[in-house]
Amino acid sequence: MNNIFKISILALATAFTLQSCGGKTTEKTEESTTTEELYPEAEATSNTITIESNDAMQFSTNELRAKAGEITLTLKHSGKMEKAVMGHNLVILKSGTDVNSFGAKAAEAKDTDYIPASEAAAIVAQTKLIGGGESDTINFTITEPGTYDYICSFPGHLALMKGKLIVE
Ligand code: CU
Repeated sequence: MNNIFKISILALATAFTLQSCGGKTTEKTEESTTTEELYPEAEATSNTITIESNDAMQFSTNELRAKAGEITLTLKHSGKMEKAVMGHNLVILKSGTDVNSFGAKAAEAKDTDYIPASEAAAIVAQTKLIGGGESDTINFTITEPGTYDYICSFPGHLALMKGKLIVE
């Protein structure tokens, strides 16, 4: 009886030690899981990229990462509004492009879905202009590592809808 009691105490003490040790580990795991869930795109380097846009004039992330080479990018419009009212595209610009100047010219290029023909040399890749519920997937190649601006060139959207594509 006495022995069993002692063993029980020992078992309890061991369980307590394990639990307090394990508690800290569990906390850390939970923290990193939460961060990944909140910003999956910002953390991952992938050459198959999906980015969303919405009726509130936002991209789902302002930072994309990929490795130099061929990149597949899908732009989704998770909203409901029509292309004429809340259209989105994603235009990747060459390093050194004056983004605001490009955006001003793009805003006047309604006939070409806000892609200004005069600025074609500044564009690395572009999706088509899409409305709520639509998506577009493009393939392109970037061989030079660097930081590339991406924007939505729909009039007025540049203020909120822009980010950096970091090519490693
Ligand atoms: Cu837009």
